[in-house]
Amino acid sequence: MTKLDWIRIKANYELVIDNLLDLSHTSYLHDGLLGNQDMVDAEITVEQVGDAVVVGRRSMNSTIPGLFAIQMPGHPRVDKWNTIRWTAPGNLLLRSGVHKLGTDPETGTGYYGIHFLTPETDRTTLYHFTAVRWNVLTEPSSNEQIGKRFP
Ligand SMILES: [Fe+2]
Repeated sequence: MTKLDWIRIKANYELVIDNLLDLSHTSYLHDGLLGNQDMVDAEITVEQVGDAVVVGRRSMNSTIPGLFAIQMPGHPRVDKWNTIRWTAPGNLLLRSGVHKLGTDPETGTGYYGIHFLTPETDRTTLYHFTAVRWNVLTEPSSNEQIGKRFP
């Protein structure tokens, strides 16, 4: 499943970058979908990798959020992680995933979120984005569930 779209944001592109790099917002703005209150307390990393800044966030033994429950059914509690890589000025790559408690993150599943920000004016930004799943563990019918629940 791939979702591809764009929107015009009434804000400077730097504010959108601030929002995307602050992964804590998933517990509040995407509560129940991409995050939840179990994930407020997390291990956070910030590092420079070449020309990019990479922010990471890990939450252990957390209630699985809705999108991930469809991607990995039967696991009410999981270890969850996110990384978002910002390559200035406006390219960001999110990788988000869940895995069984105490296992290698690469054995789990999740999605990539690709974000391209184009400043239009000082106060507007063209925000292009797409998302695609990685290490798909479910049948293709789960794509339909995701599409219905998260159009
Ligand atoms: Fe968000």
